[in-house]
Amino acid sequence: MSASAASSGLPIRIALFGAGLIGSKHAARIAEHPDFVLAGIADLSVDAVAKAYPHVPVRADAAALLDEIRPDAVIIASPNQVHEAHGLACTERGLPFLIEKPVTDTLESAATLCRAVREAGVATLVGHHRRHHPPVTEARRLLAEGAIGSVVGVSAVWATCKPGTYFEAGPWRKLKGGGPILINLIHEIDFLRFVLGEIASVSALASHRQRGFAVEDTAAVALAFSSGAIGTMLLSDAAVSPWTTEQGVGESPEFPFSDENGYRFIGSAGALEFPNLKLWTQDSAPPSWTQPARARALFAGRLDPYRAQLTHFRDVVRGDAASLQPVEDGALTLAATLAVAEAAAHGTRIELAEPAETGQSRA
Ligand SMILES: NC(=O)c1ccc[n+]([C@@H]2O[C@H](COP(=O)([O-])OP(=O)(O)OC[C@H]3O[C@@H](n4cnc5c(N)ncnc54)[C@H](O)[C@@H]3O)[C@@H](O)[C@H]2O)c1
Repeated sequence: MSASAASSGLPIRIALFGAGLIGSKHAARIAEHPDFVLAGIADLSVDAVAKAYPHVPVRADAAALLDEIRPDAVIIASPNQVHEAHGLACTERGLPFLIEKPVTDTLESAATLCRAVREAGVATLVGHHRRHHPPVTEARRLLAEGAIGSVVGVSAVWATCKPGTYFEAGPWRKLKGGGPILINLIHEIDFLRFVLGEIASVSALASHRQRGFAVEDTAAVALAFSSGAIGTMLLSDAAVSPWTTEQGVGESPEFPFSDENGYRFIGSAGALEFPNLKLWTQDSAPPSWTQPARARALFAGRLDPYRAQLTHFRDVVRGDAASLQPVEDGALTLAATLAVAEAAAHGTRIELAEPAETGQSRA
């Protein structure tokens, strides 16, 4: 960020790479935010994007855009395959960036980007926006403080039906890497790492029976955490249910609010449903199956996590806050998610390297 903008409290001039589905959401949040101004967009569909954003320069070449408009920071919302190149373009110019999930599309490209970022000392934030959601922070606090005793495990369902238009708009979504494991489960894995700590191993089954695309539409995943807790998740983008975190928290108007809980955490002294934060405990110790479990509804508040994420990014860019999720941490979520895809493809259990072995840090 330029010294003048940093010290004067001027709005941060931000560039956006990719103005598609999520990029347009970022553009809308930037437009509403008093501390940001959109300085330019890089997108291959120059004409269409220039029509939608007539007030800013739109270029096809992201690196050339940076040299032309010299922004203070960047949001990378381009396809996964170009995240590494786009992240490196920012890093080489010393520009802080918010990069959409997954941080990159392979472990090798994530390692390259993490190394470059570390050497350049550039501030980064990965776009796992859930970390900015009050029910998520509250669940993390409750579990860490022992509200359900020692966490024994978690059972979760993430199931919704993506319409045909979703695949027509992005045919890459029908191919390997474009399915619910890498697109959607990655958010759930990141959430689980955030609230329960590192994942030690994964096993999985996947099916493409519903749609018949090359990529999976459904998967069943078993997880073992370093803490000793274990868990399961049933995931599908070809089934109707009220159980997705998106519907449960009502984070976005396009996903109707269901107020339903997709997650059940169980512990030695109680249970917690998420995202509704229904806490189940017994009246007296020791716990026994002859005692009723009673529920208390907790309320953590609601806000737009994309806007909260942008505000956090402002603080990171200005040096007022440490990033809640630098690229090294996003790489750990990517590693666990890719391990699920590999476990599903080979029908095996995959052990994950400890963060120390990968040279990356824990959350
Ligand atoms: N955090 C979230 O909630 C969330 C939601 C959806 C997608 N995503 C992530 O955001 C990224 C984009 O996904 P999407 O669904 O918006 O995809 P999309 O296909 O809707 O949009 C991608 C945009 O990038 C442009 N583009 C392609 N190659 C480019 C290049 N080399 N340089 C500049 N622009 C280029 C395309 O023209 C398109 O406008 C992916 O990494 C995806 O995983 C995150």
